[in-house]
Amino acid sequence: MVIFVTGGSGFIGSNFLNLFLPSFTEYQFVNIDKLTYAANPLNLEEVSSLKNYVFEKASISEYDQVDSLFTKYKPDVVINFAAESHVDRSIVGPADFITTNIKGTFNLLEACRKYWDSSKNKKLFYHISTDEVYGSLGDNGLFSEETGYDPRSPYSASKASSDHLVRAYYHTYGLPVVITNCSNNYGPYQFPEKLIPLVITNALEEKPLPVYGKGLNVRDWLYVEDHCRAVWLVMEKGRIGSTYNIGGGNEWKNIDLVNKICELLAEETSKDTDFYKKLITFVGDRPGHDYRYAIDSTKIAAELGWKPRETFNTGLRKTVRWYLQNPDWVNSVKTGEYKNWIDQNYRYREIK
Ligand code: NAD
Ligand code: DAU
Repeated sequence: MVIFVTGGSGFIGSNFLNLFLPSFTEYQFVNIDKLTYAANPLNLEEVSSLKNYVFEKASISEYDQVDSLFTKYKPDVVINFAAESHVDRSIVGPADFITTNIKGTFNLLEACRKYWDSSKNKKLFYHISTDEVYGSLGDNGLFSEETGYDPRSPYSASKASSDHLVRAYYHTYGLPVVITNCSNNYGPYQFPEKLIPLVITNALEEKPLPVYGKGLNVRDWLYVEDHCRAVWLVMEKGRIGSTYNIGGGNEWKNIDLVNKICELLAEETSKDTDFYKKLITFVGDRPGHDYRYAIDSTKIAAELGWKPRETFNTGLRKTVRWYLQNPDWVNSVKTGEYKNWIDQNYRYREIK
């Protein structure tokens, strides 16, 4: 069986490949990645020489490239991790989000429609999506698979749009699809533009820890390997045409989370908690900042028996240790492009 893993050099895709590639030698994994700023070949150092792994540098936004890869490898499964994934970047410049997240998904769907005869052997188009498509919650309630779509950032609107296209191909053409919508992931190899790795790596460099607004927004955090194990389960056993929500049942206000990271850093280094907490800096809020996300994972738990293995204490400690133990990885991503982004995103945020 040939599995296309798009975006396999990014955060979640590389965790997925690192977790499953060594054990599932009967599967051929083809990583199709454009290698944007968010990708890092170092993420796959441990698996890239394995026989069941192939890398293809290509963009899903270019139909010709997608088409020739379908001809070359004849995939049975496509798992679409590839995306522009950072909300703040989508606010500064939405164009790439439209091109990759919408047109890229469309190109993959078109290639599946052209090459797959679903009546012959089992095929699957698996679209990786986000809870952000559901919009923003108040203090109560959870997102279920029945919650209406209400995306509010260019990022979430582009992901919602791609989800709609995937469902349209299921209903119109009978394409075998499945979609999962997951909450915030954290863990090794996450690009330090996102809150948790940004806070860890800035703290280690004794730089400000920027918290948007008053830090009261709430996110539901899931260890990345728990997300990857859910993806594997859905790939093997998920009902065609279905959607599954995946969440950690682990809600944190941003400010409480940043304080917790400071406490863990103090336990793992020679500095004390106050040293790190003094770096916390409240800055201007994200425009249209969604207040709260929280996922109801009842369906995937009941139908497929999934539940997270990692607690937040164990997962966050592993994550802090990973960034402490991998300074070369951190240095390799904190390049000129990264510095430009940090300057662009934070320079004009008013300090509160
Ligand atoms: P990421 O930004 O770390 O990685 C994205 C990867 O996609 C990179 O390797 C990049 O090079 C590649 N890519 C971008 N444009 C491409 C293109 N045109 N063609 C081929 N490859 C391209 O993202 P991530 O955090 O690993 O997220 C993966 C998926 O999971 C995304 O679809 C995202 O929307 C979704 N998701 C992420 C989270 C999260 O917390 N990170 C939560 C829920 C869902
Ligand atoms: O919910 C799933 C989504 O989670 C994924 O679809 C996205 O790809 C992923 O990036 C993530 O989106 P968020 O916007 O929630 O993640 P981020 O790490 O950027 O921000 C988490 C929270 O922290 C959010 O409320 C904004 C806040 N924040 C973020 C940054 C970068 C800060 O307070 N300061 C910061 O510097």
